[in-house]
Amino acid sequence: MKKVAVIGGGTMGNGIVHVFAMNGYDVNLVETKKEFAERALNTIDKNLTRMVTKEKISEADKTATLERIQTHLDIAVGVKDVDLVVEAVPEVFELKKKIFTEIDANAPDHAILASNTSSISITKLAAVTKRPEKFIGMHFFNPVPVMKLVEVINGLETADEVTDKIMETSKKLGKYPVPANDFPGFVSNRVLMPMINEAIFCVHEGVAKPEHVDEVMKLGMAHPMGPLRLADFIGLDVCLDILNVLYDGFKDPKYRPAPLLVKMVDAGKLGDKTGEGFFKYD
Ligand code: 3HC
Repeated sequence: MKKVAVIGGGTMGNGIVHVFAMNGYDVNLVETKKEFAERALNTIDKNLTRMVTKEKISEADKTATLERIQTHLDIAVGVKDVDLVVEAVPEVFELKKKIFTEIDANAPDHAILASNTSSISITKLAAVTKRPEKFIGMHFFNPVPVMKLVEVINGLETADEVTDKIMETSKKLGKYPVPANDFPGFVSNRVLMPMINEAIFCVHEGVAKPEHVDEVMKLGMAHPMGPLRLADFIGLDVCLDILNVLYDGFKDPKYRPAPLLVKMVDAGKLGDKTGEGFFKYD
């Protein structure tokens, strides 16, 4: 495995490009517009500079990393000579379906197709391609250059050798891969999102203010961020989408999204990305 295409250069996508390129892979970053590709490259540059400042990498490492990244606006061109494609576009099934159909038609036969989806069924995504045995979930965590975990999700038809290859590749990225089977929310979001949802219920029911809910979890449970700060960081719209996947998938009322979460998303208060969620940001 030498060359990788990453589809989407948003929060997760640019982090994924960053770690592949920093660990010696040639990367094609595919975006829909030139300015989005430039924004992703600027973020990668900024995050690499931060690592140089902290003496985690040298200036030469940063230059070499950036030189390994090429940007493309056309999926067909971006995936034509790669060994692995990692999709990191918004969590909309129809969008992912359209993109995977195009990737499947243009990527080499040997290429593994991976999705960074946080909750959409890997089996269902695999079924839109003609290579479900070469389809897998490669779920990274934000901020990707920092978080150690890659949740490796096997679809119903994922071949064992594909899982092995992705586990091995994740280790080469300096990550710690953990395998899971395809079920709504996998392990990470099945455990994380009910905690975030319950924290929102606490605010909604007047149990405590947002800052106090977060202080309890930070100081009492040693979480690096409280659940409401983390929800803002992830994006309240993303949290709501994932809770809906859990609720629809399990038909269990314990996953019902808190009405306050729905209301905040309706109001456009999505967290860090809009400048306001449970807290305000510059
Ligand atoms: N790129 C490179 N390095 C970065 C970075 C980035 N984007 N962001 C932070 N860092 C580095 C900093 O340089 C710093 O390095 P140091 O340890 O050498 O000083 C280190 O990470 C810590 O950063 P800061 O000092 O700026 O800030 P904090 O100590 O507050 O840590 C945090 C920030 C790492 C984000 C920490 O608060 C944290 O771990 N939060 C929890 C994050 C989390 O749970 N993420 C998962 C979200 S769920 C998800 O992504 C899945 C999806 O499906 C929903």
